Amino acid sequence: MSTDPLVVFTPSGKRGRFPAGTPVLTAARQLGVDLDSVCGGRGICSKCQVTPAYGEFSKHGVTVREGALSEWNAVEARYDSKRGLKPGRRLGCQAQILGDVVIDVPAESQVHRQIVRKSAAVRAIEMDPATRLHLVVVDEPDMHEPTGDLERVARALKAQWDVEDIAADPTLLAKLQPVLRKGGWQITVALHKSHKEAVPRILEVWPGLHEGGLYGLAIDLGSTTIAAHLTDLDTGEVKASSGIMNPQIRFGEDLMSRVSYAMMNENGAAEMTRAVREAIDALAVEIAREAEIDPALIVETVFVCNPVMHHLLLGIDPVELGQAPFALATSDSIAMDARDLGLCAINPRARSYILPCIAGHVGADAAAVALSEEPGKSEDLALIVDVGTNAEILLGDRSRVLACSSPTGPAFEGAQISSGQRAAPGAIEAIRIDPETKEPRFRVIGCDLWSDEDGFADAIAETGITGICGSGIIEAVAELRMAGIMDAGGLIGSAAQTGTARCFAEGRTHAYLVHDASAEGGPRIAVTQGDIRAIQLAKSALYAGARLLMDERGVDKVDRVVLAGAFGAHISPKHAMVLGMIPDVPLDKVTSAGNAAGTGARIALCNAGARAEIERTVRRITKVETAIEPRFQEHFVAANAIPHATDPFPELSRIVPLPQVSFNTGGGEDDGGRRRRRRRA
Ligand code: FES
Repeated sequence: MSTDPLVVFTPSGKRGRFPAGTPVLTAARQLGVDLDSVCGGRGICSKCQVTPAYGEFSKHGVTVREGALSEWNAVEARYDSKRGLKPGRRLGCQAQILGDVVIDVPAESQVHRQIVRKSAAVRAIEMDPATRLHLVVVDEPDMHEPTGDLERVARALKAQWDVEDIAADPTLLAKLQPVLRKGGWQITVALHKSHKEAVPRILEVWPGLHEGGLYGLAIDLGSTTIAAHLTDLDTGEVKASSGIMNPQIRFGEDLMSRVSYAMMNENGAAEMTRAVREAIDALAVEIAREAEIDPALIVETVFVCNPVMHHLLLGIDPVELGQAPFALATSDSIAMDARDLGLCAINPRARSYILPCIAGHVGADAAAVALSEEPGKSEDLALIVDVGTNAEILLGDRSRVLACSSPTGPAFEGAQISSGQRAAPGAIEAIRIDPETKEPRFRVIGCDLWSDEDGFADAIAETGITGICGSGIIEAVAELRMAGIMDAGGLIGSAAQTGTARCFAEGRTHAYLVHDASAEGGPRIAVTQGDIRAIQLAKSALYAGARLLMDERGVDKVDRVVLAGAFGAHISPKHAMVLGMIPDVPLDKVTSAGNAAGTGARIALCNAGARAEIERTVRRITKVETAIEPRFQEHFVAANAIPHATDPFPELSRIVPLPQVSFNTGGGEDDGGRRRRRRRA
């Protein structure tokens, strides 16, 4: 048996024997231990830090004595004096193995470290970025062996990093020569390896060791808002998040009106493409400024978006998406230069990756939700709903995943609601109505107190009470139903019928007054019959989409519901169920996944392998097209009732008895409701 020292790495548990004098980094590499290095063992990047452990380790069958590693050398001493090494740490490339030893690789020294997510229920992101830094020492030019600088960089990458072949954009050449000379023939290379390209490409070079970081943008391009997360490609840390309104709103609120704008106006699509690209470019500048980083250090962007946004971003006329059979120009993922998407503020050679679309109406945003929530790995049948202007719906478990998109419209975001507003300080976000007195109390964004608690008036003095946001209107409608002020058909009763003066006549219908500050020049906030109808249309579209997937799967119920989307995080599961937005499940089986599409974008940004994974997953998802499915209409009409005309809600009735009231007087309102329902068809 070999008498060479035994080295055991934790937490991987990998072990092996190496001749005395082997650097820890070399041993780690030979054993396939995940230990980082940018400088290739030159003792200057400090990425290879490890913590040796001494003493008796019966678990590993090892006793580690003093002297198991070589003494600190001059390189470590210099690094420690300049930058400081944490107590007990060594540089793996400098410390040599002299005796049996246990070496811990701390998380920050692992290339594939996991980013801890706040909720344990969601997958951790494992770092495996497509772009990485490599320090290389390049041969100087030689009269006797004429080669170009780029060829010598390629040779150095092969010799020092095992990189077989490289590509470089011609724009890089202009800076390569001065950088090589400035760095004394030692440069840091940002190398981008894409699973879609045979050869890695150099995106950027810096003289000497680059320590300024490397960043990427995960961009969730929605119809209403554009959200970006500036992410450190080394650590996965989100340095800044920022969002702006999608400027395409001026061409149409929802997707179909933007498709119509493209159809009706020459250059309409090009105009919208220009608007969104300029906005994203400006957002990149803004977010880099916020994080105080040079925008040129942003070398990657990942986009998730619905199919119409996808086409408009790429400069493709979305006209085909406005009519059956809703053909996408391509459903495949796309890898391209960011500058070809009009992103000029970031690194000129930055790459963009756009996740694949699932189908003509189910986009890369739904693919991102699938990447984040992994329904295909679920033991039980999960319904995942990403609520936005369009609802992305996924239903599945290990055996099969189905997906559809449903046109909910902007009502859930507070738009098309008489007192509606975006979620901002001053907006009513939660509301309760006493079933006895029919009096409301509410909470506004920016204040933790309820409106009937002491100190509320002072606490909201600055923001005021300005309107109702999406989660507030959902709660308001559900509370009206629970308090017997609104019937199952969605009709608000009169003051006489409901016994509260808060119900007031508005034309031929009634409205419920939530808050009246008109005497002081403030707003009069009410829930009108029109608001109820808008919410009914939105929730019916959502429920009908879910039911359609359940039909396709041959089930009447699901095991759990995941509410995704920034908005999904704020919806109260109980109120969503009273409204009949989601199928009946025990309340503790309704969870929130936060911004799952944005998380999917971050996963794809931080982990190159996840890109290939989602491309495979998308091919296996069964697409269901709501727009051409006749049963969608049936489900939609039945879902108009609150919670539902025919589907039983046994779990809901166990916890919330809904009053049996009816305010239908056979008047014109129902006709209006019907007309609106027909319009959706
Ligand atoms: S590998 Fe760079 S300091 Fe050790």
